[in-house]
Amino acid sequence: PPDIPQDNSMAHARQFQSIATANGGNRAHGRPGYRASADYVKAKLDAAGFTTTLQSFSYNGATGWNVIAEWPHGDANQVVFLGAHLDGVTAGAGINDNASGSSSILEAALAVSRADARPAKRLRFGWWGAEELGLIGSAYYTRTLAATERSKIRSYLNFDMVGAKGTRTWGVYTDNTTLGNTFRAYFSSKGIATRGVSIGGRSDHASFSRYGIAVSGIASGNDPCYHSRCDTITNIEPYVMGHSTNAAAYAAWTLAGVPNLVGA
Ligand code: PHE
Ligand code: ZN
Ligand code: ZN
Ligand code: ZN
Repeated sequence: PPDIPQDNSMAHARQFQSIATANGGNRAHGRPGYRASADYVKAKLDAAGFTTTLQSFSYNGATGWNVIAEWPHGDANQVVFLGAHLDGVTAGAGINDNASGSSSILEAALAVSRADARPAKRLRFGWWGAEELGLIGSAYYTRTLAATERSKIRSYLNFDMVGAKGTRTWGVYTDNTTLGNTFRAYFSSKGIATRGVSIGGRSDHASFSRYGIAVSGIASGNDPCYHSRCDTITNIEPYVMGHSTNAAAYAAWTLAGVPNLVGA
């Protein structure tokens, strides 16, 4: 797996902060800061060679969007999926919750492109709308996906609140030993401790586990600015973003089976 510099995902998080600041202070469903966030992510992925889809849905009288991006290599019948919600609450910019996860998987995806990776399995990434209103976007995605397509998803990894300043140990949640061990292997290789956490159905992994898909996710430590006005760029830090991003890339490489080049 690549070693992704801390500043790469921080740079995306700074862009999400700027988007919020320029759009009334938030990136919530139905607000202009959400659409600008989706456009930002899609443009980066399009430029990197992903096959992207902006999937619209309607909720609470407003249009929401999911951004889906697939790397067009590897067995399309075996999909390894990484996801993060892209919306925030109206109270603030939503940077730890969840520009952090959105930026981490965006940068992991861009690393796949930079490496021109040829995984055995198919890598797909999703940025979900309206999570804060009840997992609306991810539930729309899984519900409207044909059953045959759903059955191709081998695993779903969730990244929600992964940048909190001060974090030195990560939480891992999982219903599948292999997926949990994959995250634990990354952190243990860096000498970082993990702990099991249980977040139940409080994030988008629940939209996948509902259909029997194996799920896991990581979470950073305590966030005193949770759902508050102070969840700004100063609520996250480069060290934490760097490890969450590299954990995402490690999991993508490992689970999708990207060959390690020996002696290249
Ligand atoms: N961030 C989720 C939400 O606000 C909840 C959550 C808590 C997710 C803890 C992961 C870890 O909707
Ligand atoms: Zn190609
Ligand atoms: Zn939230
Ligand atoms: Zn969240």
